[in-house]
Parts: sequence; structure tokens; C-alpha cells
Amino acid sequence: MPREQGQFAVNADEAGADWWRDAVVYQVYVRSFADSNGDGIGDLAGLRDRLPYLRDLGVDAIWLTPFYRSPMIDGGYDVTDYRTVDPMFGDLDDFDAMTADAHALGLRVIIDVVPNHTSSAHAWFQAALAAAPGSPERERYLFRDGRGPDGAEPPNDWESIFGGDAWTRVPDGQWYLHIFDPEQPDLNWELPEVRAEFEDILRFWLDRGVDGFRVDVAHGNIKAPGLPDVGYSSRTGRNQRQSRLLEGTVLPYFDQDGVHEIYRSWRRILDSYPGRMAVAEAWASTPERLARYVGPDELHQVFNFDFLHATWSVDSFRKVIDTALAEANLVGAPTTWVLSNHDKRRHVTRYGSGEVGLRRGRAAALMMLALPGVAYLYQGEELGLEEVLDIPDELRQDPAFRRTGESRDGCRVPLPWAGQTAPYGFGTGGSWLPAPATWAGRTVAAQDGVAGSTLELYRAALRLRRAETALGGGELTWLQAEPGVLAFRRGELTCVVNLGSEPVDVRRYGAPILASEPLDEDLLPVDGAAWLKPVPLG
Ligand code: GLC
Ligand code: CA
Repeated sequence: MPREQGQFAVNADEAGADWWRDAVVYQVYVRSFADSNGDGIGDLAGLRDRLPYLRDLGVDAIWLTPFYRSPMIDGGYDVTDYRTVDPMFGDLDDFDAMTADAHALGLRVIIDVVPNHTSSAHAWFQAALAAAPGSPERERYLFRDGRGPDGAEPPNDWESIFGGDAWTRVPDGQWYLHIFDPEQPDLNWELPEVRAEFEDILRFWLDRGVDGFRVDVAHGNIKAPGLPDVGYSSRTGRNQRQSRLLEGTVLPYFDQDGVHEIYRSWRRILDSYPGRMAVAEAWASTPERLARYVGPDELHQVFNFDFLHATWSVDSFRKVIDTALAEANLVGAPTTWVLSNHDKRRHVTRYGSGEVGLRRGRAAALMMLALPGVAYLYQGEELGLEEVLDIPDELRQDPAFRRTGESRDGCRVPLPWAGQTAPYGFGTGGSWLPAPATWAGRTVAAQDGVAGSTLELYRAALRLRRAETALGGGELTWLQAEPGVLAFRRGELTCVVNLGSEPVDVRRYGAPILASEPLDEDLLPVDGAAWLKPVPLG
């Protein structure tokens, strides 16, 4: 039976309990989605107004980036109160109203949970600062004495992901650990009180009806005993943590075995509420280690960022897809596919400049939506938005910018809804990051109902994905293809992606039912993708 949209009894529907295995999840960067009150900042009421747009787009669920009370040093990933909505986004009533409407429209709601660190403005951290070294208040975080004469050197050589030392000194001479910004102190997850607090936070939101959680920095909570030195740093020439991870190093602050006990306890809680799920944002040194975050007694999914990092080539995509499918099969979990999110340069821009990037971005979307498992879309990719590269430095907000010169603001620019001038219907009072003057043709209104627009391509793909049951679970079979061409079958449907340098005749694969570029007779252009069905006999 093809799945119908808008059909489930909220959360608990037995038949729908496995909805997360083949869902399409749309990431809402709340601050940049829609502004209801003209203050230039997206909010929950703005999201609520636009839920019908997401239902019509054809996604199954939305994931909201953090909307909790926060000084917004790191876009809300610095939480002051995990059980409150920040006034800039609305209040708990707005959250409940938004969730009720989403459910009535058949959309599940996933929210972000940020367990690795709190905001420095959190009551616990403020209490820790006011208390003495060795006090129970300091125990909740990772305070240590420094090294060297007078303890004036940081306790170890760890560096912040956002650049600089991972330690900051407080007036009494102790240091506290922050793997991210100094305003994001790391919690001490060895402490039962910290664990109990987060279990209670999960229940708070589950009781409000959320369908799942996206777990921020899920690999970070536990640190190696004794907080040992890494042994080298960007200062000694080896740069950037993530490349080190890919080299196969297990860092003393990431992906420690102890994190799994936490997620086993979270799974027990999630299982006591039918139909709920959690997806880990986790980085590990190998696909095998990454797969350990999921399974029947841990989390339901983990983001597969290798797909996002694949380069525009048959070999690169094939390798990533094969590896992801093999790992997921081993643990009985669905694979996840992500092309863009709020931390990465938008894929249209990664794949090339101008029209080339857009063509490839559209083709990649068709490829992703034909793969088995779960697809995560990032707001604006359905409009073909590119990264905004020319935001003036003084308007950039990413805390990493000041420390590393790199900024994630370019993918966080408010969505263009309608009209000829910025902020294109985002709200009536400007927007917290400026939208480019070139986006009039990229708005929802400009693409709505326009054949061949990126918006209509996504809508058509999501409609077909829903109708073709084989696209959900099911196997993937690679087909022999021309050089530079990726072709795979999912049940009746074949997906062909032309990553080569010549148009390719797709007749032998079937009859096209959807294509990212117009076909020229039977020729699929370079940087195009098509979905095809067998030609009926007779
Ligand atoms: C995750 C978030 C990112 C944030 C970081 C620290 O990687 O996706 O936006 O800066 O965690 O919380
Ligand atoms: Ca607002």
C-alpha cells in the first residue's frame, strides 16, 4: 500500500511506530525560517503559519534546531534553560500549538537536545563560578587546576573546535573545559545528577508530544579518564580535529566507549513512549565506530556525513553509499543521507559555481531521495539556495568566525518566501542576516507551480517517493553503467545520475518519470539525474 500523507494517530499508532525508518525529515533552522512579528528573527508562530507549505512539500517530519532560552552565542546551541522557549522564538504555548498543528497535518516533530555543554549563563554554571574549587557545584562541569608555575598553563593541550584553547581560566585560578565556545562549558557526564537531569529533560518534551530528538555532539559527553593530552595540536602543524578523526585517531574527548551507556539509558526512555526516535550527530574515526551509536538498544539513527563529504564523482558516491549500507545492515538500522545542514556550506555551492552547482545539487537530491533509508533536507535546499558568501564580516554571528576566520552564517540566511526585495517575505521587519539581492527568482512564490523549478522538482520527487513503496526499505542493486554514470535499481525504479562529461542515452534503463534536467530525446545531460520505470510490454 502506498503511504498516504497525513495519516497517523499521534505518536502511538502501532502501524506507524516505525515511521522513522524511511522518513524524509526537513531541518528547520527556526531563527531563519519565518518571522511572525517583524523583529527580523524567525519564530515558532512563523513556523506554525508555514506548516502547510511543508505538508505540501511532502516531508514526513520536521527537525527544529534549538529554540530554548539562550544568549545565542552559538545560534542556540548554548542553552540556559532546557525546558523553556526563548522569548525571541515565542513560548511553550506557541510550541504546543505548533506541535498540535504539525501533528494534525501529518508531520512529526523532532527537536534538538544539547547534552555535551550548557550555556555559561545556565544556573548550574553560574553556581559553579560562585562556588569554590572542589565544591559540588563545580563537579557538574570539568574544572581543573592548571599546569606550570602558578597553574597558569591550561590543564592539557586540548583545543576548541571553534579555535584556540579548550580551557578558560576563572578568577580563582582554576580552568574549565569547553570543547566549543568559552560560553559553552562541557558538562561532567560521570555525575549521576547530570544524567538524571537530561533524562528528565527528555521526558519533559516527550510528555509534550515530540516524536524524537536530534542529539547534538552525541560523541562528546564522556572524556577519557585523567583528560590526557592529545599529543599534538594545530600549533604543531596538524590542523583541524575532523581531519584527525578521519585519520583514524580516537581523541580523548570524542567517541569514548562510555557514551554508549548514556544512549542505552535514553533508549529505554524512548521505548517507553511508542513511535519515538533519536538521531545522533556523532563523529567517529571509522564507519564501524559510528555504527555503534545505533541499534535496538541505542539510538535509532546516526547522521552519515560521509555522503555530505563525497565529491562529485562516481567512485566517491559509490564508496560512501556501499559503506553506509553495509554498516547499517550490520546493526539493523536505516541509513541516513544528508547533503546540507546548518553547519556546512550548502551543497549547490560545494558542487560548483553558478548553474553547474545548481544542476549538480538538483541531481544529487534525486539520487539521495532514491536511496534506501532516511533523507534529511535542510531548509532552502528545495529552493536551490546557494551559500551566501558575501555577508559583511561585521554582520557575521558564528562564534567560530572570530577565532578561525571560518563562518557558518552563509547557510543560515533567512528563507526567501515571496517578493522582489530582501528579506523576501521572511517577515515585515528585515532579517537578522541579510538575504542577497539576487534571490527574487529563488523565492517560494517565484517557483511555486513553475514546471522545472527546484521547488517543483522536490515536490514531485517526494510525491513519487511516497507512492513507490520500494523506495522506503528495500534493497539497492547497482547496474552496469557507462563511465561516469551511477545507476541503481530500487524495486521497479531505476535512478541514473550522470557525473560524466557526455550526455548519456538512458533508454535502456526504462522510461523517465522524473528528471532533474530536461532530457534531449533520450539523452540525460551532464550533471543530470533521472528516475525511470520499466517500459510496459506490448
Ligand atoms: C553541533 C551543532 C553546531 C554547534 C555545535 C556545538 O555540531 O550542529 O551548530 O555549533 O554542535 O553545540
Ligand atoms: Ca520573530
